Amino acid sequence: MDTQAIRQIAEKIKDSTRVVVMTGAGISQESGVPTFRGADGLWKSFRAEDLATPEAFDRDPVLVWQWYDWRRGLIKPLKPNPGHYALIELEKRIEDFTLVTQNVDGLHRAAGSKNPIEMHGTIWRVRCLECGNTFENREVPIKILPKCEACGGLLRPGVVWFGEALDEKILHAIYTCLQKAQVMLIVGTSGMVQPAASFGIVAKRAGAFVAEVNRSNTPQSSLFDLSIQGKAGELLPQLVEQVGW
Ligand code: OAD
Repeated sequence: MDTQAIRQIAEKIKDSTRVVVMTGAGISQESGVPTFRGADGLWKSFRAEDLATPEAFDRDPVLVWQWYDWRRGLIKPLKPNPGHYALIELEKRIEDFTLVTQNVDGLHRAAGSKNPIEMHGTIWRVRCLECGNTFENREVPIKILPKCEACGGLLRPGVVWFGEALDEKILHAIYTCLQKAQVMLIVGTSGMVQPAASFGIVAKRAGAFVAEVNRSNTPQSSLFDLSIQGKAGELLPQLVEQVGW
């Protein structure tokens, strides 16, 4: 256990009023949500190009919806873990706290996060391809193919797929936080998908102390001020304890 490193991050957090945390699939792993990469990752068994691109949906919306319906069924009974809850403690006490997540599972909100920036959308919203309206939808199983209540158009999952641009307002909000952050924590992401993969570097260049919490080394570990290896559900509660509020 890297107690010294945790203490160092805790000291930085104690001295800061502006903190950004970015999470990836690793924070939900201990809740039972499969990650994307690594030995048990979803992309070992499924091809992203067949399931998570606009072209895939155009080609075979039934297949794509079946996959999302399976994931929704898998995620629905799962609960946030101590890693998600530890971030609530930071949110409550840090004056200017931003949580950016790449996760679409909704577990940060379920833990009580007030306003997480869900940059890849959420699996619990759907969007109409005709009228563009978005709706919350928690039906499991979902009716395949689901249709818009307003106009009868085809609904798609409310997530960002490979090859799609991120919402500009969301990106602007994120870069504004990265520019002014004093501390950034990067939790449970492999750093393989842009633009999220560059956020740590952006924050560091702008002057933030950047620390990574991950079960393994990532290609970016050496670029940050600190990298602690271990489970988010264990390390984040220890970090909060060290801050000692
Ligand atoms: P990945 O599956 O690529 O990476 C998960 C990371 O979490 C890995 O670096 C693991 O070492 C780490 N990890 C696993 N369990 C952990 C634990 N208990 N505690 C701490 N770390 C742990 O997931 P992401 O980086 O989130 O995009 O993937 C990024 C994007 O790629 C996703 O948002 C998704 C995917 O394709 C889209 O769908 C657009």
